[in-house]
Amino acid sequence: MAKKNPIKICLASSEFAPLAKTGGLADVCAGLSAYLNRDGHDVRVLMPLYRIVRDSGLTFVPVENLQNMPIRMGPHTVSYSIDSAQLPDSSLRINFLRCPELYDRDSIYAPGEYEHLQFILLSRAAIEMCQRMGFAPDIFHAHDWHTALIPLYLKTVYAWDRLFAKTRSVVTIHNIGFQGIFGADILNDLELNGGERELHQDDLAAGRINFLKTAVLHADLITTVSPTYAHEIQGDEHGMGLQDLLRKRRSTLIGILNGVDYDDWDPRHDTLIPHPYSSEALEGKYKNKIELTAELGLTAGDDVPLIGIVSRLTGQKGIELIQNVLPRLLLSRRFAVAVLGSGEERFEWFFTLLQRRFRDRVCYYDGYNNKLAHWIEAGSDIFLMPSHFEPCGLNQMYSLRYGTVPIVRETGGLADTVELYNPKTKEGTGIVFRDYNAEGLNWAINQALDLYQDKKTWRRIVENGMSKDFSWDRQGAIYVELFRRLSGAT
Ligand code: ADP
Ligand code: GLC
Repeated sequence: MAKKNPIKICLASSEFAPLAKTGGLADVCAGLSAYLNRDGHDVRVLMPLYRIVRDSGLTFVPVENLQNMPIRMGPHTVSYSIDSAQLPDSSLRINFLRCPELYDRDSIYAPGEYEHLQFILLSRAAIEMCQRMGFAPDIFHAHDWHTALIPLYLKTVYAWDRLFAKTRSVVTIHNIGFQGIFGADILNDLELNGGERELHQDDLAAGRINFLKTAVLHADLITTVSPTYAHEIQGDEHGMGLQDLLRKRRSTLIGILNGVDYDDWDPRHDTLIPHPYSSEALEGKYKNKIELTAELGLTAGDDVPLIGIVSRLTGQKGIELIQNVLPRLLLSRRFAVAVLGSGEERFEWFFTLLQRRFRDRVCYYDGYNNKLAHWIEAGSDIFLMPSHFEPCGLNQMYSLRYGTVPIVRETGGLADTVELYNPKTKEGTGIVFRDYNAEGLNWAINQALDLYQDKKTWRRIVENGMSKDFSWDRQGAIYVELFRRLSGAT
């Protein structure tokens, strides 16, 4: 049945799971679009046709009226087309921005002289796609710095077009640590035709253009991916230079927790794990642990807990704390660790050396592996995520659903999703520590290892976590409500 008053949304993103993903941005754009589509709204997604996407096996169909369009970006002129494809198991069609000069590369992100052009084009092509489709979105939804120029372009270069008279722009900040900052020498490439005055003038004078900042200045609504992070980025510790502007715009800044796509991440029907299980029948979880540890060459069993880590290995994720704490704990306590991730070389080396030193206690898989990510979620007893900052974080929410007790630091979305277990009330879903230091993490891991030995209590914590619901059906509805209010669509 057709939806009454569907909202029209154009969502532009650099990443979209499972096609192009370096982190949670991809999962969230895919999960939110799928929800909006399911809920009967008209959502048009645009993402780049990276090489990895081109080779994904999808069937691409050229979109009429959107082929071989030249666009000038200062001295550079490129030609782009838009193709579309149906995702398997979904009624959602995705639009792909084809411009091999900019996107047909070995990796999704390759900082260099073309990076700003990749994302100027993505922002402009999203708007021009709507023009040529005759699609007047109620909402343009930009995600992170890659599409953060959309609000500025709508107010300047494309302001003449009555198609967008009622359109409102929303930017979602997934990670304020990445802002897309370039030298002011790219100014001509933006082709703002007089709209330069809408850029941040002090930045310009200082020789910088900051893509994310333009959205903070011009978007009709700014969202970020958890309520606590919305608060944190207005402060000096986590604002990364945007705190003053965000404080000025605080009446249009809101934190909405990400949803989880339980079609992909639920142990009851996860096809990427050997043994499905549920909170009523946890034997499968133990079998997953036994097979995972055998596969990884680790010694762990009923009385020896397995700690899982799946993470980009960067400063954000608290790997320094792990470096400080884990080697000593491995000497004094019985547990094993399975690590999946790549990133900064110093951290990759740390885990490589730790594995050499504790052969049957630590296994480090350097790289990206979705199947192993699922298996670690399912087979581990404890999941470690001691982030320095965490806008939302998805893995702790996956862990809760998989009965894998998370250890997190009280920051951003971690603070909003994991609750410290309270032995008196028997409420709580994990171990939460406050201060970002080695003592905090050391306390938290010891606490988890102690609680693990008390089987009844552990089972209670596991069940508390598994019963939590962070589905898109809940979180997506919050976006819909906001979009309606913003656009006046009732
Ligand atoms: P972030 O986006 O900051 O990296 P999130 O917790 O929001 O953190 O999302 C990370 C996503 O990327 C999760 O879906 C996680 O399973 C996945 N992921 C991270 N590292 C790897 C890896 N090495 N292999 C497979 N998946 C990974
Ligand atoms: C970012 C954040 C992460 C968040 C993800 C999706 O990559 O680091 O915390 O979950 O975006 O919003």
